[in-house]
Amino acid sequence: MLELRNANVFYDKAQALHDISLQVDTSNVLALVGRNGAGKSTILKAFMGQVALQEGSRQLNGADITTTSIDACSRMGIAFVPEDRQIFPGLTAHENLLVAGMSHQPGLWTMERVYALFPRLQERSSALGTSLSGGEQQMLAIGRALITNPSYLLLDEPTEGLAPVVVDQIVEAITTISQQGMAVILVEQNFRIPQRLAQHFALIDSGRIVWSGLRAGITDELENMLSGLHG
Ligand SMILES: Nc1ncnc2c1ncn2[C@@H]1O[C@H](COP(=O)(O)OP(=O)(O)OP(=O)(O)O)[C@@H](O)[C@H]1O
Ligand SMILES: [Mg+2]
Repeated sequence: MLELRNANVFYDKAQALHDISLQVDTSNVLALVGRNGAGKSTILKAFMGQVALQEGSRQLNGADITTTSIDACSRMGIAFVPEDRQIFPGLTAHENLLVAGMSHQPGLWTMERVYALFPRLQERSSALGTSLSGGEQQMLAIGRALITNPSYLLLDEPTEGLAPVVVDQIVEAITTISQQGMAVILVEQNFRIPQRLAQHFALIDSGRIVWSGLRAGITDELENMLSGLHG
């Protein structure tokens, strides 16, 4: 289980996260939803160790990892797919996967399995990072994380700006990934996409959890509240 307990995060003097407590476990998808600037990406960065916790703690299977480095977290099985995807533009899709796999233990997720999950990526395996479409880049970014064989996969707005047919492919892939045992934290702007695959939800606003619960607890009122927050 990966957990934040009462986490407070600041950027200089501005407090970005207030008392955030969240946890995710094997085969579970936790969705974080909220408007622009709510603090969703900062929560993922707090899980990954990319931002320091001013107060509170981070725990992995009961062990305190509050001050553990990003590299060590990565070796311990936490993988982060950032919103900007960070594909190596001068490498082919295949090379991007090879590089990611090199520094990690082999496991369930091999090159073949990544290509089976995203057949489009195999068709485009010799294309340079720069020539991949947005959807292909997202598949590659997820594939690159999978090939490190993590236990926890953090996805920052993986469907943003993608065509509906590609969104469907990404949703299906995340469902498969979690069914095979991985814990996933999925950030999206609204409930619509996470409702298709997540079990647990947290609505974030102004760096706080303003609601959390199960899918059945998502009411029209809550959705209206979120669209109200979008202005
Ligand atoms: N590196 C930074 N330095 C200073 N302030 C930051 C930094 N990154 C984020 N912030 C601020 O922290 C708050 C939360 O930002 P964050 O990126 O976590 O929100 P978000 O919910 O991911 O938004 P979006 O939907 O736009 O991605 C915002 O007020 C943002 O301006
Ligand atoms: Mg963000």
